[in-house]
Amino acid sequence: MNFSTTSRDILQIKSDCILTFYHQDQPLSPTLERLNRATENQIQQLIDRSDFQGEKGETAWIHNPAGVKAQRILLIGMGKKTTPSDHELNKAIAAATSALKKSGCSEITIAVPEMETDTLYGWGRRVLESIESTLYHYQFPGTAQKKASRPELKKATFVVHERKLTAPIKQALTDGKAIADGVTLARTLGDLPANICTPDYLAREARKIGRNQKNLSVRVINEKEMAKLGMGALLSVTQGSEQPAKLIIAEYKGAAKSHPPIALVGKGVTFDSGGISLKPGARMDEMRFDMCGAASVLGTLQAVRDLQLPINLVAIVPATENLPSGKATKPGDVVTSLSGQTIEILNTDAEGRLILCDALTYAERFKPTEIIDIATLTGACVVALGKHAAGLLSNDDQLANDLMQAGEQSGDRAWRLPLWDEYQPQLDSNFADMGNIGGPEAGTITAACFLSRFTEKQRWAHLDIAGAAWNQGKEKGSTGRPVSLLTQHLLNKCAK
Ligand code: BES
Ligand code: MN
Ligand code: ZN
Repeated sequence: MNFSTTSRDILQIKSDCILTFYHQDQPLSPTLERLNRATENQIQQLIDRSDFQGEKGETAWIHNPAGVKAQRILLIGMGKKTTPSDHELNKAIAAATSALKKSGCSEITIAVPEMETDTLYGWGRRVLESIESTLYHYQFPGTAQKKASRPELKKATFVVHERKLTAPIKQALTDGKAIADGVTLARTLGDLPANICTPDYLAREARKIGRNQKNLSVRVINEKEMAKLGMGALLSVTQGSEQPAKLIIAEYKGAAKSHPPIALVGKGVTFDSGGISLKPGARMDEMRFDMCGAASVLGTLQAVRDLQLPINLVAIVPATENLPSGKATKPGDVVTSLSGQTIEILNTDAEGRLILCDALTYAERFKPTEIIDIATLTGACVVALGKHAAGLLSNDDQLANDLMQAGEQSGDRAWRLPLWDEYQPQLDSNFADMGNIGGPEAGTITAACFLSRFTEKQRWAHLDIAGAAWNQGKEKGSTGRPVSLLTQHLLNKCAK
């Protein structure tokens, strides 16, 4: 989809449809008033006759409106509130986009409502990102694109009523498009089945992002090199699998070489069966989403590349399967991590932390200003926060606050949990420096406690996206989270 902005007169713009917003029980906005006058009161009549009441997510068409060059007008109900929340705006746009999908529209005009100038950017971002997200559809690779029975949405022009308002909208469209494309990439990777999206597939996707880029290089470390480096924890997870594990490292340089980078580390378990500590059968298919942390790192990397942000970024993805076999790691096995610390693997299903700990230690060599890891790490996080917020744990208050704020701004929220020392003894082991599980209590926190032992020298934050990364049930599918949060955080760095 292509997005642009203009300050031309909305009545004079040719398009298939004008999208315009109506707040229930409010007088018509100046834009609506103009459209209403041009259409000889058609809008007001719809309202007066209760054909359109403006309830949240309600839509109404006006065909061949008089006095307007566009072929249709689509009224979008916003409910009673004058300032809708991000969530409400998302829902309204999703409803409008669904209505448009079922119509013959291909080029649309969006009437930007009158609002405070400093809220325009956020509004534009939300609208663009919601449209793109509603248009997303998963396609199995290699299958022919179904011949669409209707024209597809191709182009949206945001119309502002004053020339000077085009600048914030333009910026919103640039940033929003890069983020939406990053989200789409993350969703696609998440949705792909594990027989296609293997560790090697992720490595090739990373290489694709770096192709023909002067300031982005991608390197992939194989199992032999991992062994040489001493990544015993990461290797213990891939031991039962036929698919070779990969450690993907992408370096983006948008700032001076001397500028230390930000490091993102994403869990890339392309299928998590639990290993010898096998998971129960129900819903095990969903463990193909166990690489959504990796997908979000690659989506963010792509967005940063598209925006050419003036920062340095290192993206690290440990990618592996977790499967049982005669060669697989057994409960009670002890391994030595890259950091030198030994780990007693008491449950092979707590594999995420094993691959992350070696990746986090590896990240240290880039001397980053901060490390953020993203992982579908614990079922306990789904119990604690559900799908609406990612769990956030950090050894640095400033970093935690920055991420919380980026989450609020982008509508891709996180919520902080404590990382107090009191939880650490739950990881005690009689046979190694630590066990890989912390017992039934506070599973999300003890998982983060485990990781904290590998980031002591770093400003570090951990996002547990076990609940946020995919939807279950009828809506089953990847969400692309937290690409928006992460990219927003990086955008905020540039603004400082
Ligand atoms: N990938 C899972 C976490 C998960 C489970 C995410 C369900 C989303 C939904 C992770 O590798 C795992 O299996 N964690 C275990 C840890 C336990 C053995 C300490 C869990 O949460 O049960
Ligand atoms: Mn597991
Ligand atoms: Zn897992």
